[in-house]
Parts: sequence; structure tokens; C-alpha cells
Amino acid sequence: MLSYLHGFHAGNFADLHKHAALWLILAHLRKKKKPFCVIDTHAGSGWYDLGSEQAAKTGEWHGGIGAAQAGKNAPEMLQGYMDHVARFDPVGHGRDYGVRESDEYTGPFYPGSPFIVREMLREDDELVLMELHPREHKTLHHRVKRDPRIHLHKRDGYEGLVAMMPPAIRRGLVLMDPSYDVKQDYQKAANAIKQAWDKWPTGTFMLWYPILEDGFDAELRQSIGAIKAKGGVLCAELAAEHGGAKGRMRGTGLLVINPPWQFDQDLDAIGTWLAKTCKFPGPTHHSISWLVAAA
Ligand SMILES: C[S@@+](CC[C@H](N)C(=O)[O-])C[C@H]1O[C@@H](n2cnc3c(N)ncnc32)[C@H](O)[C@@H]1O
Repeated sequence: MLSYLHGFHAGNFADLHKHAALWLILAHLRKKKKPFCVIDTHAGSGWYDLGSEQAAKTGEWHGGIGAAQAGKNAPEMLQGYMDHVARFDPVGHGRDYGVRESDEYTGPFYPGSPFIVREMLREDDELVLMELHPREHKTLHHRVKRDPRIHLHKRDGYEGLVAMMPPAIRRGLVLMDPSYDVKQDYQKAANAIKQAWDKWPTGTFMLWYPILEDGFDAELRQSIGAIKAKGGVLCAELAAEHGGAKGRMRGTGLLVINPPWQFDQDLDAIGTWLAKTCKFPGPTHHSISWLVAAA
């Protein structure tokens, strides 16, 4: 069952936290000349029009990227990412970014993970995308098909990830960003990450999860925290103390295996600033903890 569409949520506080973390990891990968690869197992449609009916229906981006762009004194690395978002104009790129003349766009626009990574790819770097939703896949295909560095698969991201391990380019990142439409996604995500890490123990893996009132996130932390990676396992959470409306997220979490050097400090500075700048259901904190210490 694929009912989730990211267009309703693009640019919300969870996207901002996750994408800022993604930006930090990419900036680190670019420090060395050696090529890197990124595998994005749940890619979405690539980029989003925040002026669309979908985005207007929830208005979530106003409390995320909207609030952050109006905020002051953002940490330098977050500002770098937000400048990228402010400059992001797929319409200006036309066919190259899959803009269709028959579609109407309003803007502003928000890049999803495929286009955040694309911005940071160099000539020999690679991006592998998986997306299972037929319409999202079709849109994404149209948007990335002209870039030879990007390989898109209409494939289950959990099974596909394990089958692709280890990647031919051995430096890089796996981003797993499921929609958690169904509760089984928690178990599937933990199993796939464990199996993939077994085959690629030096890779960096980042798994996103929502913090809801149902407590499934605790099981996920436990499963991923059992992975004894040399570079450690980090947990970062940006969450309000109390829940919002039933079924709504009160926070957002990331589990990162083998994070880059000083990623914890940089992400904590970003998360602490987002906690006081974005809109949440109540008082909000950012926390960072090592579930497994780096050796
Ligand atoms: C949260 S969205 C991804 C957002 C995107 N990573 C970003 O940051 O812009 C999750 C996506 O996963 C897709 N999806 C759901 N189950 C999947 C599966 N088993 N394999 C691959 N894609 C899946 C959904 O259709 C949806 O587009």
C-alpha cells in the first residue's frame, strides 16, 4: 500500500533537519577527490512546488523552511544549505530538471533528497535512486533522466539496497527515508540496514524516523544500536516534549552509522537552532547521543 505523497510534507521541520544532515555528510564526502556514491532508497519525486495545492493543504513548510528562512543567525553549515534552497529554481533549468511546459508552477520550490545530492555530485560521483510509487517514480524519472550520473530504479528500497551491496564505489552514503505508511516499515528498515551494513561495514548509513506517540521509534533505536560499527552509531532527535494532534509527528529522528568526523557537533548546533526557530506543537529540544561509541 503506497498512500504517502511527500508533496504534502516537503520543507517541514523534519525535512529541514534530515536534509541539513544530508548536506553535512555530502560536504564531508566532497573533501576528498576520490569519487563517492549515494544510494537513496526512498527517493520521492525529486523536487516540490511549495505553491501547489498539496503543499497548501497542510501548510507544513511554513513552520519548517519558511520559519527558518525568516530566522536570524543560523549556523554556517545550515545557512549554506538554506542558500541552496533559496537559489533552487527548477523552472530556470527547464527540461534538464524535468519541467513540463504543460504544467503550471507557482513556487517557491523545495529540493528533495535527489536534487540535494545532485547539487553536490561531481563528474565521477554516482547517485542511485529507488522509488516504488508509480506516479512519483514517473515524475522522478522525467526529472533525472538526462543526468548520466543518476540511476533510478522502480524497486523496493529495502530489498534493492541489500541486493546492491557493496556498491562498486566504496566511499559513500545510504539514505533510507521510508514513509512508514505501515508499521512493518520499522522492522523492514532495521533489517535492511543491518544486512546492508554487514556487506558494507565502512559505508555511512542514515535512517530517518518520525517521533510519534506510538513508541515504534524506541524499537528502531534498539535494533540499529545493536550494529557494532567502528565509526559508531549516532542518534539525533529534534522533538517537542508533548505530542500534537493524534497521529501527527511531535518530532523527527535520525540514526547515523559511521557518521563523519565532527558531524555530531555540527548537527547539534543546527538542531538546537531549529528547535528555537521552527514551529512545533510545544517546547522543543535537540538531542544527540552515541548509541555505539566510535572506536
Ligand atoms: C518520505 S518520502 C521520501 C522523501 C525523499 N527522500 C526526500 O527527502 O525528498 C518516502 C518515499 O518512499 C516511497 N516508498 C514507499 N515505500 C517504498 C519502498 N518499499 N521502496 C521504495 N520507495 C518506497 C514513497 O512513495 C515516497 O515517495
